[in-house]
Amino acid sequence: MNAVTQILDDAVRFVRTKATTKPLVGVVLGSGLGAWADALDQAVKIPYAEIPHMPISTVAGHAGNLVIGVADGVPVACLQGRVHPYEGHPAVRSVFGVRMLARLGCRGAVLTNAAGGIRPAFQTGDFMLLSDHLNLSGQNPLVGPNEDALGPRFPDMSTAYDPEVRALAREAAAEVGVPIHEGVYAALLGPSYETPAEIRMLGRLGADAVGMSTALEVIALRHMGVRCGAMSCITNLAAGLSPAALNHAEVEETARRVHDRFKALLSAWVRRVGGLVAGAPSASGSPR
Ligand code: HPA
Repeated sequence: MNAVTQILDDAVRFVRTKATTKPLVGVVLGSGLGAWADALDQAVKIPYAEIPHMPISTVAGHAGNLVIGVADGVPVACLQGRVHPYEGHPAVRSVFGVRMLARLGCRGAVLTNAAGGIRPAFQTGDFMLLSDHLNLSGQNPLVGPNEDALGPRFPDMSTAYDPEVRALAREAAAEVGVPIHEGVYAALLGPSYETPAEIRMLGRLGADAVGMSTALEVIALRHMGVRCGAMSCITNLAAGLSPAALNHAEVEETARRVHDRFKALLSAWVRRVGGLVAGAPSASGSPR
């Protein structure tokens, strides 16, 4: 067993001393979107600082707790806030949290983020289901010796955003009456926002939204065989598409404004994903 697997299992063993629920679905809550986890049944909240080896988020709007509980009958484990490579965490450290979710037993994952809208039809407060991503961060969490216990050297990414999980998001959106777009997310390193020229370039490359997270996490989760879906909250129009300067306060403010719709959509989606992955074989290498 190599070093990454060993430290993951330290974390998993610790978490299991605190929470007996065995999660099926992992949920990653992005900037300003963390409150969903506060409404879970039988919730056990574990600050990241208590979890062995867990990197800690320094960004406003990212609470920094693992919350394990039950959502509409589905056992879930939520990352209430994430760490990003732009905080100085190496890519492999930035995916520690999602790998821990998989190692805890999650077979499906639903990730959320705040993103800038590039597609001209997008307005702030819209939601976009990720159909795919462009990993333009210059980083990959799988660089280095392969963790054979976690997954293959060259994982397939042709259905990174699982078609069935995406179909369930569309069903959930119809159920709760919240419209949802679908498009490609470009992941950049940040932390500076993009220039207008970069946004024009990203649009021509096929990006519909831009952000600084999610892609590396999905790579790490797919490596481990977890079925992924992801949703962006379009918190602002990308650089150059509105006269206003971009700032993190606007990102958090929009996330707050749409929070009720976001929570309803996420709940309906997670319930369906729970149904999909229940009974499926567990992600690779989950310690018993
Ligand atoms: N660019 C990059 N990341 C973001 C943005 C943006 O416009 N909005 C929220 N996260």
